[in-house]
Amino acid sequence: MALIEWTSDLDTGIQVIDNQHQRIVEYINKLAHAQAHHSREEVAEVLDELVDYTLSHFAFEESLMEDAGYAFVNAHKKVHQLFVKRVADYQQRFKLGEQIEEELINTLRAWLINHIKNDDQDYSDDVRQKMQQAGKPKRGLFKRLFG
Ligand SMILES: [Fe+2]
Repeated sequence: MALIEWTSDLDTGIQVIDNQHQRIVEYINKLAHAQAHHSREEVAEVLDELVDYTLSHFAFEESLMEDAGYAFVNAHKKVHQLFVKRVADYQQRFKLGEQIEEELINTLRAWLINHIKNDDQDYSDDVRQKMQQAGKPKRGLFKRLFG
């Protein structure tokens, strides 16, 4: 059984974000799998992939929040930055040979699940609204011209 099972309370209702979050969950599951099989090389590899992917995801999420004019975008960015720093510290210790895999995986799981369920839910209404509005002018124009 996978470490994290995707449940509907993790959905933000923004398809592109949910897809990215699901991918992050897959990486954490892969990480737990590698650790369970005592493969340090595999843990190192998946960890690099997870960090890369999460950084791109955060950048994408931040640009959506900015576009939507979400009021707490700076606070949310700060939360992302602190997490990135925390993971980089772990990654450094891991690369230096410390046995921190279990602690690292538990931290990733707890932090990301909590972040998705709470912080990300908080911006989802604003971003969804903005995305719906972005679709409207075209329909409006179409109606005016051809309706
Ligand atoms: Fe976020």
